[in-house]
Amino acid sequence: MKKTLLSILLIGSVSLSAQTGTSKITVHADQGKNVINKEIYGQFAEHLGTCIYGGIWVGENSPIPNTKGYRNDVLNALKELHIPVLRWPGGCFADEYHWTDGIGPREKRPKMVNNNWGGVIEDNSFGTNEFFNLCEMLGCEPYLSGNVGSGTVEELAKWVEYITSEGDSPMARLRRQNGRDKAWKLKYLGVGNESWGCGGNMTPDYYSDLYRRYSTYCREYDGNKLFKIASGASDYDYKWTETLMNNVGDRMQGVSLHYYTCKGWNGSKGSATKFNKDEYLWTMHKCLEIEDVVKKHIAIMDKHDPQHKVGLMVDEWGTWWDQEPGVKSALYQQNSLRDAFVAALTLNVFNKYTERVKMTNIAQVVNVLQAMILTNDSKMVLTPTYHVFNMYKVHMGATNLPLDIQCDSLSSNDKKFASVSASASRDAKGLIHITLANVNPDKEQKITIDLSNTKVTKVTGTILTAKTIDAYNTFENPNVVAPAPFKDVKTSKTGLTITIPAKAIVALEVL
Ligand code: AHR
Repeated sequence: MKKTLLSILLIGSVSLSAQTGTSKITVHADQGKNVINKEIYGQFAEHLGTCIYGGIWVGENSPIPNTKGYRNDVLNALKELHIPVLRWPGGCFADEYHWTDGIGPREKRPKMVNNNWGGVIEDNSFGTNEFFNLCEMLGCEPYLSGNVGSGTVEELAKWVEYITSEGDSPMARLRRQNGRDKAWKLKYLGVGNESWGCGGNMTPDYYSDLYRRYSTYCREYDGNKLFKIASGASDYDYKWTETLMNNVGDRMQGVSLHYYTCKGWNGSKGSATKFNKDEYLWTMHKCLEIEDVVKKHIAIMDKHDPQHKVGLMVDEWGTWWDQEPGVKSALYQQNSLRDAFVAALTLNVFNKYTERVKMTNIAQVVNVLQAMILTNDSKMVLTPTYHVFNMYKVHMGATNLPLDIQCDSLSSNDKKFASVSASASRDAKGLIHITLANVNPDKEQKITIDLSNTKVTKVTGTILTAKTIDAYNTFENPNVVAPAPFKDVKTSKTGLTITIPAKAIVALEVL
């Protein structure tokens, strides 16, 4: 009680205090049982703003250095992240997308209006072949988002046939005519997107019936196994999950959830780069609230599916700020150290619930919302969020190690939350990785890490921080927020002690 009171007092005077907080993390290194699904580190690319056109695809004739139309700088940066899965073509765009418009010779492809995102003309030059080739180049699983809102069952069924059928079927022949002999593998198939909103404004009961109908005709050709994902709830809509679990059950292998760290859907969402400490603390609280939201959806799923046949797929998440002033590209926002915290804290939560959370896809990969990468013509910059994904990629496929944290609390509008966030895992080589964030913007933390009698031979670390919480990278100054070696580690017989500066994210590797 005394400690809590003291914590609150410290928070009140946090900007004046030079004190060091003390925290303790106990990593139960002997209790790991769940593998962190690598797909938790998934990405999302929509035909929105300059995510695809300009961000990923520039076409073979572009002066921007490219490989078969994909820009080299972006490709190389994305390869470094070892992206496990990429969701495409939307988002809202998916429910108005007709895949046959995006196949065949590019100059002959029909154009359409992108009604969801500014009414721009979509020339369909990036279509199915271009997406699957991209996934092959990145070495990631494709995750296709199918059109249920304005499409037909036949259209979606034929798309699956076009992609995966190896035989002499009509769609396989069409694919061959378009230059691709070998079928691709398609695992993740989304049956609609936000069907409660831009995907058709449906009720959960109506959507459940549609899901059952559409998914029936999405066949598994020539040994291809589909993992079908139903369009799930937004944030706190537990009724949607309840209805789908009840009506659809394990006819779906996954049900999605969308959760944005966003002030609201009407009016200003706030600047990506100009914010005060209260807004920073609000952001931290809002992003951490995802834990409660995930827990509640999981509780519903546990009730209907105690055998864990259905995965929770958080296939859209991240920050949503006002569009960057002066930039025409829809939903283009800057990305500051605050965004890096949202990524770090959220990924720590997802690792913890990996038993049910089978995939997540941050929105979005390039030039849209909480992007990894920003581009402008030939220029490219890596965001603070990119660096978090790069630091955290060591958790992919490793065994999650449960942990307890004792630390001070911070508060936003009287709602308290922990000032330290962490996650730990052990990889196939036996290395333990710990990712930590000191959320306190003003106070360093001395953290004792108990590793449950693990013998520590060597520790290396990386830190991501900056002078101010609103710091960000620009094309002119790309390394304002950049990872650096972290050396403030002392080892002992029982574990480690580290001192982590205010507003810093650290990744440790323990041998
Ligand atoms: O990610 C941007 C948009 O947010 C997606 O198109 C939609 O699914 C969600 O509302």
